[in-house]
Amino acid sequence: MSTPTISLTFLLLIIHATVLLVPSQSSSIIPSRYDGFVYKKRAASTATVMIEAFYDPVCPDSRDSWPPLKQAVDHYGPAVVSLIVHTFPLPYHDNAFVTSRALHIVNELNTSLTYHLLEAFFKHQEQFYNAPTINMSRQAVLDQVIGFASGTLGNSLKSAITSGFKDSKTGTKTRVSFKYGCSRGVYGTPFFFINGFVLPFNDDAPIDFDGWKKIIDPLIANKHQHYPSSVF
Ligand SMILES: *[C@@H]1O[C@H](CO)[C@@H](O)[C@H](O)[C@H]1NC(C)=O
Ligand SMILES: *[C@@H]1O[C@H](CO)[C@@H](O)[C@H](O)[C@H]1NC(C)=O
Repeated sequence: MSTPTISLTFLLLIIHATVLLVPSQSSSIIPSRYDGFVYKKRAASTATVMIEAFYDPVCPDSRDSWPPLKQAVDHYGPAVVSLIVHTFPLPYHDNAFVTSRALHIVNELNTSLTYHLLEAFFKHQEQFYNAPTINMSRQAVLDQVIGFASGTLGNSLKSAITSGFKDSKTGTKTRVSFKYGCSRGVYGTPFFFINGFVLPFNDDAPIDFDGWKKIIDPLIANKHQHYPSSVF
């Protein structure tokens, strides 16, 4: 009889310790601004349909989902739809974190360039897949990422991007994005939220332009209406 009692006490201690620890940890990672890259520097607004995408720059499914999403966001325009992209580097993609960090670094340097680099990573992501980089040192991969980013955006940025990788703050930002995704239950990419509500994860076919229209159109139509009581 005594063994279960001891383990229960122990369990309660652990739970108590966890409860004590979690708030202090989570408050310390709250960023000074909402996480993510706002599309076209438009202010993301709750007066619009707000789409959030969690993307891994070296994930093929993220890549495939981007053109139709971009087309839809451009189609509706900033008064109707806003978009925020968060990085979510998947642990089984070896170079997901370093490429995500490059996006955070570039976003700090010039927010106009972030999506340009994201699209370049999508377009040429094969060179950062696991197999072609398996024999490379982490330093060699880092050099390749820096070379790729500055080659894409302009070699005048090379030293700033290189220093960005030496600045621990950019690593922290990349971790915060990841932790934010975890806190919202993200477990794959691409992963979407509309007005804060999760879109069921689907890793088969990307949502095409018509698919996005089917999601967005009813939300616009209902904007000024009350919910039917049957919803509740
Ligand atoms: C940021 O990038 C844009 C687009 O290339 C450029 O027009 C602008 O001058 C840059 N801003 C700064 C502060 O470098
Ligand atoms: C990596 O190294 C192994 C062992 O030397 C070699 O067999 C393999 O072909 C190399 N792979 C690449 C992608 O260079």
